Amino acid sequence: MQTPVLSIDPVVPDPVLIEQAARIVRDGGLVAFPTETVYGLGANALNPLAVANIFAAKGRPANNPLIVHVADISAVPAVAAIWPDKAARLAARFWPGPLTLVLPKCKDLPAVVTAGGPTVAVRVPAHAVARALIQAAGVPIAAPSANRSSLLSPTRAKHVLRSLGGRIHMILDGGPCAGGLESTVLDLTSTPPRLLRPGLITPTEIETIIGPIQQGSVSASSKEPSLPSPGMLHRHYAPRAPLECVAEGDRSRVVALRDGGQRIGWLTFAKESEADWPGVAIVRMPRDPAIYAARLYAALHALDEAGVERILVTLPPDLPEWLAVHDRLRRASADA
Ligand code: TXA
Ligand code: MG
Repeated sequence: MQTPVLSIDPVVPDPVLIEQAARIVRDGGLVAFPTETVYGLGANALNPLAVANIFAAKGRPANNPLIVHVADISAVPAVAAIWPDKAARLAARFWPGPLTLVLPKCKDLPAVVTAGGPTVAVRVPAHAVARALIQAAGVPIAAPSANRSSLLSPTRAKHVLRSLGGRIHMILDGGPCAGGLESTVLDLTSTPPRLLRPGLITPTEIETIIGPIQQGSVSASSKEPSLPSPGMLHRHYAPRAPLECVAEGDRSRVVALRDGGQRIGWLTFAKESEADWPGVAIVRMPRDPAIYAARLYAALHALDEAGVERILVTLPPDLPEWLAVHDRLRRASADA
């Protein structure tokens, strides 16, 4: 299968291109599209065969449920059975946007979407291409990140092409994703609600709207039989090259690996220059957490593409605004 890549305006998407993509979705095919977080790999959530093909294309374990994307709140009843007051308040504040809510699933939603579980994860994306595609398709769109399972999420169309080219029917290229990290996932079926994945919407922002939520690590080893959210598996969001985190100011690991002859990439805040570190691919990262998040995966993809053998990342400060970045770095550096 050839995977065409269609360039599309991210702000005012061409309706003709959107209709081409929507037809593929309606016909049971797979279309990768930009969202405000990362690129998603979409299929008609109401078509079990199409959804099964998402799992096949990604090599995703069947026990890891998908997020269903809808155009607006009015489409939620097609996927979720209950719409609690807390969901209504969060949606009013954060939708469209990078917040995914886990709710009891509605009985007509195919079991393959939720990995056989009783709940469904749902969100209304903010990206104009994603919204236009859902609207034109006329169905809810199940979409995980558009990458092979457990690897880095794509924030550019070329990342999708490299990972899934030849396995999916179309890629809509709307340029780089502004957010750069996957949505915050909040489970509203537990009391109090539970943060399953930190993201661009912070716990504090959520608690301002609905009061206290449960936080803390929900990571689990892949050997554990039952997981609160299978995507919370320890090693995830990982580049091909092994990734290690180092403390700010600590250059000993960089020196040791370089002197050992390894080709390394280094994400750092410092004004290091490649002239001082021959043989080290240096990526200088910004100190603003939102800008850092937007660039992180692109930087890791680029180092993978450059063929480095190991990636070192200087850890950002241990502050709440860095929660999602820390979470992804921890998972990217975890043992398989
Ligand atoms: O920003 C995003 O969320 C992107 C864009 C494309 O929307 N999507 C994304 O999907 O990151 P994915 O499949 O890569 O991550 C979805 C996460 C996984 O950790 C999955 O286990 C969890 O959400 N999840 C999905 N359905 C769930 C459910 N019913 N209960 C608990 N966790 C669920
Ligand atoms: Mg993913």
